[in-house]
Amino acid sequence: MRRLLIAGNWKMNMKLDSAKALAQGLKEKAAGVSEVDIAICPPSLYVQPVGAIVNGSNVGLGAQNAYFAKAGAFTGELEMAMLTDVGCQYVILGHSERRHILGESSEFINLKVRAALKAGLIPIVCVGELEAERDNGVTNDVNRRQFDGSFSGVSAEEMKKCVIAYEPVWAIGTGKVATPDQAEEVHAFLRGLIVEKYGKEVADVVRIQYGGSVKAGNAKELLSKPDIDGALVGGASLKVDDFMGIIEAVRAL
Ligand code: 13P
Repeated sequence: MRRLLIAGNWKMNMKLDSAKALAQGLKEKAAGVSEVDIAICPPSLYVQPVGAIVNGSNVGLGAQNAYFAKAGAFTGELEMAMLTDVGCQYVILGHSERRHILGESSEFINLKVRAALKAGLIPIVCVGELEAERDNGVTNDVNRRQFDGSFSGVSAEEMKKCVIAYEPVWAIGTGKVATPDQAEEVHAFLRGLIVEKYGKEVADVVRIQYGGSVKAGNAKELLSKPDIDGALVGGASLKVDDFMGIIEAVRAL
């Protein structure tokens, strides 16, 4: 049985005071939760002060991005080892906002996935189709391409540590959540890709999160599906009660 992972992607939101207050509130309210894994991914600049608050608690820490190279002349970038240095366990890579707004390719994301694994981080690797791609019937092709590209050269042992986040782009920040059946169909397809490439033993342990308009009211139905192993939450991770509502809704699953 895979342990659910509920992760908050704070994106480019909040200022330091509210980020710290959110972390403090979550730490207090989540203190008794042992059934699921919890993580928060603040903006990079706030990873350290937020990390100081959740350090030693059951709220894990992640970043939203980092670069693949070792320390050097890369103005504006962060090395994976800098994230572990300040207590991160996770790093989100290949989020659709980075693929589509910042123009990141699966090949580029792959370099980061491999660097994250080498640094001992758990990469949360996002894949997902655009609405037009779904309408054109190429959902599986898109997700296969992103999966193949992003995990190229990743060994079976490394793959077991990875988390995949299926985030249909049309469901992100739109309130237009995928139905549990729509999501499960792609999750099962992605798990099939892991079986093809790495075998069933690996596929059985890899967690595949769903992301896209997850809220307390729809989380249980989505995460009850056999191949949905958690949620990557945007908007509803920005308030203690909203995020805790999701955790409370699924902790007994
Ligand atoms: P929303 O939950 O705001 O739709 O965002 C999802 C997401 O992109 C998480 O990474």
